Amino acid sequence: MSINSDRRIEMEETIRNPGYKDADDSGSGRSAASSSRSDTEERRDSRAVKLDQYAQIKPYAGMPKEVLLLHSSKARYRVPREILFWLIVCCTLALVAVTITIIVLSPPCMGWWQITPVYQVYPRSFKDSDGDGVGDLKGIKEKLDHFLNLNIKAVWISPFYRSPMKDFGYDVEDFRDIDPLFGNMQDFEDLLAEMHNKGLKLIMDFIPNHTSDRHRWFNLSRTGDPHYKDYYVWTDCNPANPKPNNWVSIFGNSSWTYDKVRKQCYLHQFLSEQPDLNLRNPDVVQEIIDLIHFWLEKGVDGFRMDAVKHMLEAAHLRDEPQVDPDMPPELVTTEWDLYHDYTTSQVGLHDMLRKFRAEMDTYSREPGRYRFLVTESYDYQEVEKTMMYYGTPLVKESDFPFNFYLLDLPQNASGWWAKQLVDFWMSNMPKGKWPNWVVGNHDRPRIGSSAGQIYVRAINMMLLTLPGTPTTYYGEEIGMENINITQSQVQDPAGKYNVSLSRDPERSPMQWSSEMNAGFNAKSNLTWLPVHPDYQSVNVELQMNDEGSVLSQYSFLNGLRQSELPFLRGWFCYVLADNNVFSYIRELDGHKEAYLIVINFGKGSTTTDLSAIQELPEQLQVLMSTNRANDNKVFQKSQIVTEPGEGLVIRYSTYTRFHPNHPAECYVSEKACYLETVGILYKC
Ligand code: GLC
Ligand code: MG
Repeated sequence: MSINSDRRIEMEETIRNPGYKDADDSGSGRSAASSSRSDTEERRDSRAVKLDQYAQIKPYAGMPKEVLLLHSSKARYRVPREILFWLIVCCTLALVAVTITIIVLSPPCMGWWQITPVYQVYPRSFKDSDGDGVGDLKGIKEKLDHFLNLNIKAVWISPFYRSPMKDFGYDVEDFRDIDPLFGNMQDFEDLLAEMHNKGLKLIMDFIPNHTSDRHRWFNLSRTGDPHYKDYYVWTDCNPANPKPNNWVSIFGNSSWTYDKVRKQCYLHQFLSEQPDLNLRNPDVVQEIIDLIHFWLEKGVDGFRMDAVKHMLEAAHLRDEPQVDPDMPPELVTTEWDLYHDYTTSQVGLHDMLRKFRAEMDTYSREPGRYRFLVTESYDYQEVEKTMMYYGTPLVKESDFPFNFYLLDLPQNASGWWAKQLVDFWMSNMPKGKWPNWVVGNHDRPRIGSSAGQIYVRAINMMLLTLPGTPTTYYGEEIGMENINITQSQVQDPAGKYNVSLSRDPERSPMQWSSEMNAGFNAKSNLTWLPVHPDYQSVNVELQMNDEGSVLSQYSFLNGLRQSELPFLRGWFCYVLADNNVFSYIRELDGHKEAYLIVINFGKGSTTTDLSAIQELPEQLQVLMSTNRANDNKVFQKSQIVTEPGEGLVIRYSTYTRFHPNHPAECYVSEKACYLETVGILYKC
């Protein structure tokens, strides 16, 4: 029985039985014991009198318990009390239900790596602070405001570890040290602190496949140190013809080199100065994990993992099949001559990357400290291999593998081709994953040179209006072009065999201003590669002050991308692709503003007729054109005129959505709706 009902019975008892007496009344009870009536009767009488008196008095807090109970059990107190009680219970339950619903329906918060583009700095070429002709960490620190001006919050810096620079830093001598060319550990820590101070994230390049042949591990391995002897891939071979099998290096010729000290051959999928680590050895994997910890503890925000598909090789070391079986084996010298069945994408690779990812996750738990992972792997013909780096719905791997397909845009520039390349990624990407786009990097010709300068703005526009994370290689934001390199100027080892393979043209110094060396190096006349002769007209300083410049348009579009929900989380729908134009819509359910993008990748001026698209209003006003003269211009939807290389961002207001009527033309990574009245997003 509950306490309340006990009390009620006690109360009723008291009223029926006025002789009821509380323990503290015992004194007065005893003095009455001398009368002729029984003790019990007397107590009953006096109690009844007291209660009668109390009942006349209005209730107040200082009353004896039983009197208060007498009043509180009256209907006029009891009923409101019970109503209030149940009201509180119901409200609490409703609040819990609403909270759970909001949590379940809210789309997940976006990661910093989804919101900002990733900007690639090639440190040799970004900014030289000490005048030795090579860029350095202090130089990057001087230029951090450039990223803020562009609304970029994530910077990937190509390797700056201690290195003999045979492959300009991708040959690492000591993963725990900074190369003196770039500065020292203090400079790195200062740079990282300053970047964090400005709200910028730093992504390190990380090279798990190989080291430099100067690395301590390699020296210990070649001298047969028992702990290190299996740190690399060694096999017996004939010193006169050191080719234990037909495997070839990415830079050409056999991927085996004879080592006189160990009297065996070691494997190198890149330069002979870049021996491949033996990642089948658990001690080596542990070394890599220790390095990951080392840099995460320093505070870096993520890694770009280099050449991951090469991490494991088949232990049996059998010949790889030739693409042309009739080719004489001695002519098999390039990576294109073989199917890489035994040197790339071996079983166990993804397990290893998932292990690395799990290590990174342990550093990702504090709010705002998510550590990002992007993998680099060129698997052109085998897109499903690339997609595997996304992991599975249950096991995470990289946040995304780099999408290099847009690098092929210049080969066949047309609206149709642009759509093909975009759709190649979108249609193969696993459901629920996040896309990304690369239009340039330190290994590929600048798109302004391969596609042509007139397409630079259009390509940047597409990059910044597609769904997913854009990557921008330094200089693309101002439309830098490749430099011409003669055989005698070649620096890149890949170009030493064949100048046409040199990656130097896309690595020329960043063009900051019209001053000496384009402002890359103000202290001496040295620059490790020539500055592009167009720097007087193509540079950051000039373009900052010109509203119609490539730079201003980049920063406008990037601002738009980050402030307008349809770009970040909305639907992406194809509208049209022909010889010239690629056109698509970005829209979000419930969000009034939608965007139509029309980009002319073709060779001629063209008029696009979108009158068949009923969801579009009759008149379309240009928010921004790559040709400034056309900003704010109004087109009939049947007559949208664009010149080659011109891109339009058209904003229109409507609640009529395109995607429900064209589901086969649309993608969304997670379906989101917008509740205009209270301004919240929810999953719908
Ligand atoms: C990656 C880098 C490239 C480097 C190679 C070997 O492909 O992007 O520059 O030469 O790995 O580390
Ligand atoms: Mg390897």
